[in-house]
Amino acid sequence: MARVMVAAIGAFVAVSAIAQTAITFRNTITGEVLNFNDALPEGKDTPAVKEFMTTGKNPYNEDMSCLKQGEQTFLSACSGCHGHLGEGKIGPGLNDAYWTYPQNETDEGLFSTIYGGAQASMGPQYQNLQLDEMLKVMAWVRHLFKEAPEKATWLTDEQRKSFKPYAGHETLPDNPPGKCQAKK
Ligand code: HEC
Repeated sequence: MARVMVAAIGAFVAVSAIAQTAITFRNTITGEVLNFNDALPEGKDTPAVKEFMTTGKNPYNEDMSCLKQGEQTFLSACSGCHGHLGEGKIGPGLNDAYWTYPQNETDEGLFSTIYGGAQASMGPQYQNLQLDEMLKVMAWVRHLFKEAPEKATWLTDEQRKSFKPYAGHETLPDNPPGKCQAKK
């Protein structure tokens, strides 16, 4: 007696977990395409990272809830070389409108420099910081900008209207609403 067994073969398409990058990010010095397979596994697929990979706009810019985390990362990973206000030390100032590499005026360029590094002691940060942390530290670097808001081309028109050049000390509110608000 023949029993036909129909094996249902679940055909599925394996979709890569790596965020699809609509933008091609390139190393600031060599122009080589940056490979995000090398990024730290955590913080790689947050909504902000996914959005950034397709738009090139940092969704954390001027989001008060993210700035404190960005500041903490800046103080532990960047300020030793760039100064605690980004005013420059052994590394160049990051808080004015002059860039050694003009592409750093865009968030796409700034991200590429942090991820892939530049010259001398500006090493690639992809093994030190998660992609999501890079976006937060970038938002803090942008917040430290001390020149006229009109020059803050990375901001949206709306953000530019309320942006104030960084004036030194500022007390950030405790856990304000926003994308990085801690849930209790
Ligand atoms: C060990 C020292 C050191 C550390 C740590 C460091 N940098 Fe740098 N950075 C440098 C140096 C030196 C340069 C200049 C490199 C060059 O001109 O190619 C530089 C260049 C840069 C530039 C390019 C600036 C321009 O004018 O175009 C950016 C942006 C930058 N760093 C951001 C960061 C951020 C953000 C961090 C922390 C995540 C960081 N750096 C950590 C030393 C450092």
